[in-house]
Amino acid sequence: MSWELLLWLLALSALLALLVQLLRFVRADGDLTLLWAEWQGRRPEWELTDMVIWVTGASSGIGEELVYQLSKLGVSLVLSARRVQELERVKRRCLENGILKEKDIFVLPLDLTDRSSHEAATKAVLQEFGKIDILVNNGGQSQRSLCVDTNLDVFKELMELNYLGTVSLTMCVLPHMIERKQGKIVTVNSLLGIISAPLSSGYCASKHALRGFFNCLRVELAEYPGILISNICPGPVQSNIVKNSLTEEVTKSVGIDTVQSHKMATSRCVRLMLISMANDLKEVWIADHPFLLVVYLWQYMPTWAWWLTNILGKKRIENFKNGLDADISYFKTWKTKHD
Ligand SMILES: NC(=O)c1ccc[n+]([C@@H]2O[C@H](COP(=O)([O-])OP(=O)(O)OC[C@H]3O[C@@H](n4cnc5c(N)ncnc54)[C@H](OP(=O)(O)O)[C@@H]3O)[C@@H](O)[C@H]2O)c1
Repeated sequence: MSWELLLWLLALSALLALLVQLLRFVRADGDLTLLWAEWQGRRPEWELTDMVIWVTGASSGIGEELVYQLSKLGVSLVLSARRVQELERVKRRCLENGILKEKDIFVLPLDLTDRSSHEAATKAVLQEFGKIDILVNNGGQSQRSLCVDTNLDVFKELMELNYLGTVSLTMCVLPHMIERKQGKIVTVNSLLGIISAPLSSGYCASKHALRGFFNCLRVELAEYPGILISNICPGPVQSNIVKNSLTEEVTKSVGIDTVQSHKMATSRCVRLMLISMANDLKEVWIADHPFLLVVYLWQYMPTWAWWLTNILGKKRIENFKNGLDADISYFKTWKTKHD
């Protein structure tokens, strides 16, 4: 074979590989490493059995769906959140639809902002099951208000819950994992822990802080390769997050359901979370376009990201002022263009 032909073949293969990656990206609803793990990686059904998994925010949304999917694997579950009746409801559904028995599910009410209770809660879990294999830091609250209109107490509350509450619980569980030299600390962060969007300044700040904390902790734990620190960063997902979002005042949440059909199905987000946990991925992005595109730009082409964020951001504020879900209409435009 001549050198010229070989070079042509190489160039053609490179072009083909690029095309395949581009096609994968257009169809993606998660970062490409995560989707590769979904295709070729370890299955949650093989990897997560026999584990003790503690999920905060298990009474609603992503946490609720997560425990439903986990209850179909052979695990022991600890369900935490503030509303005990809701946790009992979720437990009943787990028992009805999963393969777990009464003794496999421990309902443990917990307020993430009540940091003085976290040590006792951790001891209670260890007493019940003897170990904690995975802590899923999922409980949290969002925000829908313009920065200039927002009382400082709102920023404080979001930091107390999303950042300090999560850090505090992690610090209680960590010594146990260090002693065993194994465990996974999986934190449901957000794309807003990487990028920024208007109407969520306090939320973005708390999630950026969390990402900084856990990225630092991961490096500090380098001598414990058996301990995984994982950031899960979803974009918009169907749940009660917007309804429960804080507004200008700490005493006032949005309080009404907004249309959610444009958001990712909770079950899909959770399936990808399980894939991430089974494959020990350090950070994953779970989102449809255009959010996924924005986060890729943010990471690799920040100047373009700012340009696009300004356009989408203006629309976001406009939607909010018109009483719509902040992310609804530019998403619709995108969808109709590509359907
Ligand atoms: N849905 C999305 O679009 C989206 C996108 C990116 C990231 N996330 C993240 O996903 C996580 C779960 O949110 P979600 O979407 O499932 O919202 P959700 O349906 O509102 O659920 C939030 C959960 O957090 C719990 N929680 C709130 N305050 C708490 C406190 N002080 N102490 C303990 N638990 C508390 C709630 O339970 P109680 O009220 O019973 O305490 C509830 O179980 C959050 O960290 C959120 O930031 C969500």
